[in-house]
Amino acid sequence: MLIKNVHIESQDVPQDVRIINGKFTEIKNEIEKHDNEEVIDGNGKLLLPPFVDSHVHLDATRTAGDPEWNETGTLFDGIRIWGERIKTLTKEDVKSRAKATLREQVANGLQVVRSHVDVTDPNLTALEALLEVKEEVKDQVELQLVAFPQAGILSTPNGKDLMEQAAKMGVDVIGGLPHYEFTRDYGVESLKFIVNLAEKYDKLIDVHCDEIDDPNSRNLEVLATLAYETGLGNKVTASHTTAMSSYNDAYTYKLFRLLEMANLNFVANPEVNLHLGGRFDTYPKRRSMTRIKELSEAGINVSFGEDDIKDPWYPMGNGNMLDQVQVGILAGGLMGYSQIQGAYKFVTNNAAKTLHIQDHYGIEVGKPANCILLNQTNFYDALNEHAEVLYSIRKGKELVETQPKSVKLNY
Ligand code: FE2
Repeated sequence: MLIKNVHIESQDVPQDVRIINGKFTEIKNEIEKHDNEEVIDGNGKLLLPPFVDSHVHLDATRTAGDPEWNETGTLFDGIRIWGERIKTLTKEDVKSRAKATLREQVANGLQVVRSHVDVTDPNLTALEALLEVKEEVKDQVELQLVAFPQAGILSTPNGKDLMEQAAKMGVDVIGGLPHYEFTRDYGVESLKFIVNLAEKYDKLIDVHCDEIDDPNSRNLEVLATLAYETGLGNKVTASHTTAMSSYNDAYTYKLFRLLEMANLNFVANPEVNLHLGGRFDTYPKRRSMTRIKELSEAGINVSFGEDDIKDPWYPMGNGNMLDQVQVGILAGGLMGYSQIQGAYKFVTNNAAKTLHIQDHYGIEVGKPANCILLNQTNFYDALNEHAEVLYSIRKGKELVETQPKSVKLNY
């Protein structure tokens, strides 16, 4: 396959891209077509590596309103309602909902998804289901699974055993929820347990960390210290860290020294952070998203996730990462023109770094030929116009094709 005349990421000069046997084999200014070679005319449009969702919960997706709608919009009501819904969970129920959401994501140019899965259910039904889904969709999407203790590890009966069982069953990542544990001490102990478990089974780490508007929620400093002292560094991810938007600047200044040394990744979930945050404020009302601008400027890796797609925590969501970018850079104060042009990285290259998949991700000769062609010539226009994914190409094959909408104005 030969893709002619595309702007790759933020490059000014259009390039041609050759794909042979599922890999990028040549990328340069002008490539001569071979006989019988399939050609896609890129028309100067934008070619990106596929979108990556670095944080979602596929076990809960599409359950919004069942058994009840979360009318308060708080994280805690979300947890309560999910606690009811989980009682009726079956493997087929989880699989069909997760697959429907994955299809929506794939249609929007995603090829990589990291999903947390609740492992506080003693039967581990959702985990069994998502492990099967992971295998069944592997030709379309790379799915990483995180063992996520929705009710805490030390605060759940047999919480440690369930986490270890999940590690043995084949999750890719060990998760946690230290700010929701009964005590601060439990939070610290849970983080030490998570790090030991990840080291024992050679897993990545992704912790729901300080997802609360409490300036005293400071598990992040513990997680960062463990990442630094164990040398796990960028195998560790801190998701949410919304409390950082409530920390005072003197403490945050001190904290950033440690974060830079620790070299861990951050995931913000812009739409959900704004939706769930500030719920206990009157006015002024906090935005409750982590400090993505300051983290990025300090050279710390930040990516975006959808978190919740039509579930007890968030009633909306459509699998389109452009929505997360738009809300994230708006709320994060990152709307300088050059910042907008570079913002695709939050849902592509930065996210690949979070997921530790850089060895097989990116538009480079020798790597698997996975890419998306957007219906605009640069990311500023792609974001503003919510550009269609004209093609999503996976291992050299057309996984998705979209016909652009056409609007006729009768005047
Ligand atoms: Fe989450």
